[in-house]
Amino acid sequence: MRKNIAVIEGDGIGVEIIAQAVKVIKKIEQKFGHIFNLEYVEMGGCAIDKYGVALPDFSLEKCRAADAVLLGAVGGPKWDDPTAKVRPEQGLLGLRAGLECYANIRPAKVYKPLAEASPLKDSIISEGFDIVVVRELTGGIYFGESGREGDSAYDTERYSIPEIERIARIAFKIAQGRKKIVHSVDKANVLESSRLWRETVARVAKDYPDITVVNILVDNAAMQLVRNPSQFDVMLTSNIFGDILSDEASQITGSIGMLASASTGDGSRGLYEPIHGSAPDIAGKNIANPIATILSVAMMLDISFGLKEEAAAIDAAVNSVLEDGFRTADIATNGESPIGTTEMGSLICERI
Ligand code: IPM
Ligand code: MG
Repeated sequence: MRKNIAVIEGDGIGVEIIAQAVKVIKKIEQKFGHIFNLEYVEMGGCAIDKYGVALPDFSLEKCRAADAVLLGAVGGPKWDDPTAKVRPEQGLLGLRAGLECYANIRPAKVYKPLAEASPLKDSIISEGFDIVVVRELTGGIYFGESGREGDSAYDTERYSIPEIERIARIAFKIAQGRKKIVHSVDKANVLESSRLWRETVARVAKDYPDITVVNILVDNAAMQLVRNPSQFDVMLTSNIFGDILSDEASQITGSIGMLASASTGDGSRGLYEPIHGSAPDIAGKNIANPIATILSVAMMLDISFGLKEEAAAIDAAVNSVLEDGFRTADIATNGESPIGTTEMGSLICERI
């Protein structure tokens, strides 16, 4: 197979973790006989410094021309002024919208060898935790009308029926390959957009009679996630609710450095990135955990390229390294002496 991958290192630890993910891509090429052409693309704070915008047009064009996009992380204190007109996050939102990646798939699970890293009591986590947040990514309050008027400011949550329908279908399809239950998260007791959400999800659900839909209010969902997390399997959310709940879910696993994500649309092209940020405080020290980015490569091979065996080889290599007790600093809980970013990348490559 021959594919073009746009690679965005971004800022902070982005450069280091992407370097490890690229090692894994090369290993897969060599072992399975594929050709992956990598094109490096500038986006984020580094692009602001150089071009004055987070996502220059030519960067978006390169991503559009690729079969998949692999992203490290963007942002940092240098560009953190909330009043600034140009911000690294605009690059991320522009990329999601520009690639029409409306479905954000965020698996969060407790890895057995890392169960102790979860901040939840054993009695709560003992039944396991393995969920997927399916977050609408190109609509809602993130993209609604916003502005300032006199002494007030406003942001608008707006969803259309087709936007809700297409994300609901993705959640139902994912649920068909899992436990066949979808918790649809809303605030239908208050918000009109949530009432439309609930109504539309119920209608789409008729096409998936094998799936159980549970409507849950977002505040209750936030509570239930820490009270009884194993009741969830697929959580279907709007853009902002998914933003919040996926951070909460990631903390339940205790190892945000492990969690990958995919953003897809109607075609096979997708955007793959770790769910953690650019961690500027530890950048350049060879201590960041590259596993989330490496697992994002596995998601890319699986979802965009249909390379299931290759994706499984990466997953298995990661598991084997963890089982043998190798840890980067963020996941070293048992007094293991941590290994560095590059060592972790090399170990995973060896085991592929
Ligand atoms: C995320 C991030 C982004 C979001 C920010 C950086 C714009 O928090 O990917 O969850 O809110 O979507
Ligand atoms: Mg977020």
